Amino acid sequence: MEYKTTLNNINRPIAFFDSGVGGLTVFSKVKKLLPKENYLYFGDTKNMPYGEKSEEELVGYAHKIFKFFEKEEAKAVVMACNTTSAVTYEKLKDKYNFKIYPIIQSVSSSLASLDGINKLAVIATPATINSHAYSREIKKHNSSVEVFEISAPKWVRIVEEGRINSSEALDDVKEILDKIPKVDKIVLACTHYPYLSEVLGKFLPPDMFIDPSLYFAQNIKNDLEKSGFLNNKFEYEKFYVSSSPENFVKSSQLFYKLNSLPELKIL
Ligand code: DGL
Repeated sequence: MEYKTTLNNINRPIAFFDSGVGGLTVFSKVKKLLPKENYLYFGDTKNMPYGEKSEEELVGYAHKIFKFFEKEEAKAVVMACNTTSAVTYEKLKDKYNFKIYPIIQSVSSSLASLDGINKLAVIATPATINSHAYSREIKKHNSSVEVFEISAPKWVRIVEEGRINSSEALDDVKEILDKIPKVDKIVLACTHYPYLSEVLGKFLPPDMFIDPSLYFAQNIKNDLEKSGFLNNKFEYEKFYVSSSPENFVKSSQLFYKLNSLPELKIL
């Protein structure tokens, strides 16, 4: 597909989306690497959690969000959500005239080639786990890596509802970690999960966990750079949510401090 972006309109925004505050774990890293870009962020909080939705529903949400970004003239769209990358990317990838970056497909080669790592656990939403996207994508690059997949259905709500320091968070994190066999590393394969790093660190050393957004942000930067799409002056960043702007600001504190309330946008 031909991309319309030219050197004359490199100031078009890079657009991010997720079901809520999770995508900010990616956005904050990309913004640090590319401070001169303009940005849009859409948190589909009305339809959260995505991990419990059907393929049809998720494809429907993604199309609406992509059409919104198309109207806003995004030059690239970042699927800062593992669930939509797992379930909708193949259905959307050739239908839009901007670059699309899906997290799972982007990071799997890095995960497949980590030094001395033969056994990985992947914790993700039920929809991501049911798709087996991580296991499939990692094995494309290295078939000898063993991938153990487990879902943590409660963690997204715990993060969105600001309960990361609750006893429920502690108990549920313990319950999930107890089910994981002995592995070399554990991938936090939902962009909401890094918000739980402190609780996770109570049970296992922090370096057991991999936040794939570190690789993802670097890959996005490299690709935009290689394509000559980088902007040279920051002008704006705009945040949108489909419900509860106040809640979004509260729950996002650990990863990004917004200067004002996000705009309520029903698509
Ligand atoms: N943060 C998203 C992900 O990475 C979606 C979580 C959800 O809404 O279930 O999968």
